[in-house]
Amino acid sequence: MRKLAAGNWKMNGLKADLAEIAALVGAHSGADCDVLICPPATLLAPMAEAAAGRIAIGGQDCHAKTSGAHTGDISAQMLKDAGASAVILGHSERRADHGESDADVAAKSLAAYAAGLTAVICVGETEAERDAGSTLEVIGAQLAGSVPEGATALNTVIAYEPVWAIGTGRTPTLEQIAEVHDVIRETLGKAFGEEAKGMRLLYGGSVKPSNAEEIFAVSNVDGALVGGASLKARDFGAIIAAL
Ligand code: G3P
Repeated sequence: MRKLAAGNWKMNGLKADLAEIAALVGAHSGADCDVLICPPATLLAPMAEAAAGRIAIGGQDCHAKTSGAHTGDISAQMLKDAGASAVILGHSERRADHGESDADVAAKSLAAYAAGLTAVICVGETEAERDAGSTLEVIGAQLAGSVPEGATALNTVIAYEPVWAIGTGRTPTLEQIAEVHDVIRETLGKAFGEEAKGMRLLYGGSVKPSNAEEIFAVSNVDGALVGGASLKARDFGAIIAAL
């Protein structure tokens, strides 16, 4: 399966930072994987232009509805219209800061599918949940509630992001990553049959050039969802090269 390096810029990036995309387009030349960058909504259209079809562009959230009286929100159709081909949904920061439930994530995923976007659906346990030994149960429940019927290998990517590894410099052991990714593949297989074999499973949480290669070698890791290290073309280019 073709691997995917996805960058989540979160609430970072001004017009001046578009230069990083120009540099990344250069770094990506010849790379044997897909590259996706999800900038803040303000940069979607200019970034899509700078990426010139060489790198895919995505949103970081969308509303479940297509239009209407929802001040400050953005629809999947609008993302598509601005040049996006994907959208991150159910990131733990959205779940924590905006109270998004699994059902919300499933509804947003359906909106993404309807607009022709790939949904990058995030799951992950908190540190307390890992310490309590409930990681696999938490991930299983999130998958069951967040990934809707109609998910296929083309329209759905799953990102496993342990909450305690995001922006902390801490990562699970390679065995822990393998354990969760194997269970994700198995769980998706029970729900979606053959389609699950082609769904890309990304690991996210403190991925950087120095640990990318060993993480990418783990069973059922088909790429990464990268935060901080996706902001600079030099770092993200090194991660892409490790895929
Ligand atoms: O969505 C990516 C993210 O949550 C991981 O962030 O900065 O730990 O790579 P970071």
